[in-house]
Parts: sequence; structure tokens; C-alpha cells
Amino acid sequence: MTDQYSLKSPRGETVLPWIQASEGPGALDIRKIYEKQGVFTYDPGFASTSSCKSAITFIDGEHGILRYRGYPIDELAEKSTFLEVAYLLLHGELPTKEQLEGFVHSITYHSMVHESLKTFFQGFHYDAHPMAMLTAGVGSLSAFYPRSINIYDRQEQQVFAQRIIAKLPTIAACAYKHSVGQPFVYPRNDLDYCSNLLYMMFAVPCENYEVDEVTARALDMLFILHADHEQNASTSTVRLAGSSGTNPYAAIAAGIACLWGPSHGGANEAVIHMLEEIGDRSQIKKYIDKAKDKSDNFRLMGFGHRVYKNYDPRATVIRKMCHKVLQRLGKENDPLFELAIELEQIALNDPYFQEKKLYPNVDFYSGIIYQALGLRPSIFTVMFAIARCVGWVAHWQEMVNDPDHRIGRPRQIYTGAQQRQYVPLEQRDTKASPD
Ligand code: ACO
Repeated sequence: MTDQYSLKSPRGETVLPWIQASEGPGALDIRKIYEKQGVFTYDPGFASTSSCKSAITFIDGEHGILRYRGYPIDELAEKSTFLEVAYLLLHGELPTKEQLEGFVHSITYHSMVHESLKTFFQGFHYDAHPMAMLTAGVGSLSAFYPRSINIYDRQEQQVFAQRIIAKLPTIAACAYKHSVGQPFVYPRNDLDYCSNLLYMMFAVPCENYEVDEVTARALDMLFILHADHEQNASTSTVRLAGSSGTNPYAAIAAGIACLWGPSHGGANEAVIHMLEEIGDRSQIKKYIDKAKDKSDNFRLMGFGHRVYKNYDPRATVIRKMCHKVLQRLGKENDPLFELAIELEQIALNDPYFQEKKLYPNVDFYSGIIYQALGLRPSIFTVMFAIARCVGWVAHWQEMVNDPDHRIGRPRQIYTGAQQRQYVPLEQRDTKASPD
């Protein structure tokens, strides 16, 4: 597409240069619009705005396509490991055997956290949400690693990437252990990434804990599916926070805070609460009606997506995986899973969901798997954060190394009061005051 675009107004004509994408829609370069035309553009929620150029992940929402660095997500989920995918996202290419060994070794041997970081958790109330503890724990890493503030130093970038990917499971497990009132468990370097995470979450000092291989592989696959999703809200948050040049651990903490919300990563926890609230197939219609009722805030959690107007390709893989994991754990008749399948079928056949192209997203089934693995709902989004951290780091690195990168600073359409006269306190009319 090489058509010439321009914007005509009484101020004259401004040519909008075309930026070609390697796949998917390109974009109009509007950087000079304000300078030339004296107007801003308006796009709340950024539905039509590209905030950057990125070579990491491609999504075609109409056709339900997701690729990391060109590789289809289902192929990666089936054939790769999470750390192999992490290497791909960070470095742009699948690793050779030697490169992978080196990468896995670095991640494995950075998994311990400073002892004093552990004491932070003692300060949290017993029922603190694990996402709150994770946000704080990760933010505190910027105090332990102040040299990471040298964001343009490639060596520091690499050390940061390895440290955060390695330590996040340890911090996540500390948050989990604190919430269940059990002692922290140190990482084990003889275990792979997901087996070690399961070990740190479930082992207790008084007995042996053997990590189940199938469970660890299921988790690894879930992590691959969650590893990146281009400019989603939390990734954009990491980019925006990082654009000021802050310590990257602080930028990752900002991303975790954003992920927590139920419209984003918090949906996996919300799906379980919703299914429990629905409780029984006889109640499904009532909840579908609530979701369609504009005067009701209720939404079908795990349904709908800003980009996918088709089945989320990750949900397809997770749905299949859900069957396998539940079978393996002897929970194939799990009532929540059965309810979820029925709810999905009813919603997919409902004209409201069809017209609005609302399909199950990645989180519709992931909570059911986490629950079957024995995790509490409040830790589900923490698991998501561990996986998505790889994407956040890849995007942060891409941003700081991009010559076009500037501090993110959107503009606004001011709708407040125009200049007015200051009224001294004793002369203000209390009746005119809004409260
Ligand atoms: N249930 C009922 N109606 C819905 C739902 C839903 N889950 N999702 C969207 N809609 C409706 C909206 O009411 C709106 O209707 P309208 O056009 O009549 O006003 C229309 O579909 C478009 O919805 P928007 O909110 O404008 O879409 P947006 O792209 O801003 O939001 C979002 C996407 C946040 C994911 C939304 O679909 C939602 O809230 N889903 C439930 C929460 C969820 O599952 N989030 C996880 C997303 S995946 C992830 O972040 C990992």
C-alpha cells in the first residue's frame, strides 16, 4: 500500500507519510499533525493508534492468528519449552543447542533472592493479595540492583533480563507461601523452570515433594501461550513507565500492577469467581442475560478481546490442554470445567455475542487448569505475570534500543473550566458548592 494520505484543513494540507508493516495494517505517521495543523488526534483506549514499531509479536485478530517472531503460537506451544520461547522473544531467533544451554544456565543460577527481600513479606497482612505483594517485591528489586538504571548499557540490559526472569518465580512463590502461611522454600537448581516453580509453591519442609512431570509440562505450555501479546495494557504500561528512563524493575512492577485488573490478566481469577457464582447450569441463562443488560455492570469474564474478533488461538490450545490436565489429575468431571464448556456453547450461539464477535479469550480456561493444579484463585494472575514478564522485558529492550524512542507523553482534549476569577474562602457561596 503506497497511497498518499494527507489531511486538508483551513491551515493547509499536511502529507501523512505511510509506514509499511511487514504484515498486517500499516499506519499513518501523524507525528507532525500538531505542529502543522494545530490539532491533536483523539483515540481513548488506543484502538486505532500504534504506539511504536515492534518486531516481536504479530496478531491478526480477525483470523485468530498469533505469532512470536514469525512462529505460530500453537507450534511453539507444542514443540518448544518456555525458556526456549523466552530466548526467541528476547533475541529474535530460536536458540541453538549451545545458546539454549547457556541461557537456561543463567536463568537457573540467578533464581535466589537477597535474604532481606524475604523479610519484606513478613510486613504484609496474612490476607494481602499476592499481586499486591508481587508488585511490591518486584519494585523493591530496583533498590537491590541500582546499576540497572544504566538502561542503555547492553550488558546491564542483559543482566536485568536474566535476573528478573530468574527471580520472579521465587518472589511469586514467596507471595504464595505468605498467603497460605507456610515457610518459604528455596529454589532448586536441578529442576527446570516450571518444576522449580511448582516445587517452591507446593513443597513443605516436613515431607518430600515430587514434581509431577505432566503438570510441569502443562504449566510450561501455559507460560508459552502467555509470554507475549504485543502492545496489551500491561506491556504498554511497562513501555510508558520505562520511557522515562526509570529503573527497569520499577517499570516491570508497573506492568504487574496493570496486569492485575479484571479487564486484563485478573480475568483468570474473575472467571473462577464467576463460575462459582453461577454455580449451576440452570443459572447460565440468568448470567448471560445479565452480561447483555447495559444497565448491569456484569460481563462474561474470559470473553471478548480488544484485538481478537475470532476465537483467541491461545484459548483453543488451553481448552485442549484443560481436558488433558484434568484427565491426568483424575478430575475430568470437574464441575467448573463442565459449567465453563456449557457456558461457552450457550454464549457462542447467542446473537449478542455473535454480533459483537465475543469469543473466549486466553483466560476463560486457564483458571480452571490452575485450580486443578491446586492453586488458589488469588495466585492465578501471579502465574500469568511470571510468563508475561518475558514479553515485558523483550518490549522494554526493544524500546530503549529504538532510535525513535522518546518519553511517552500523550496530549488531551481539555474539557474543564476556562480561566476564572479566584474567590476568597469567606466569599464562597456554600450552596453553589458541588458537595
Ligand atoms: N461480556 C458482555 N459484553 C461484552 C463483553 C463481555 N465479556 N466484552 C465486551 N462486551 C461488549 C461491550 O459491552 C460492548 O458493547 P456495546 O458495543 O454495546 O457498548 C462491546 O462488547 C465492545 O466492548 P468494549 O468494552 O468496547 O471492548 P474493549 O475492546 O474495550 O474491551 C475487554 C475488551 C476488556 C477484554 C472486554 O471484552 C471485557 O471486559 N472482557 C471481559 C474481561 C476479560 O475477559 N478480560 C481478559 C482479556 S484477555 C487479557 O487481557 C489477557
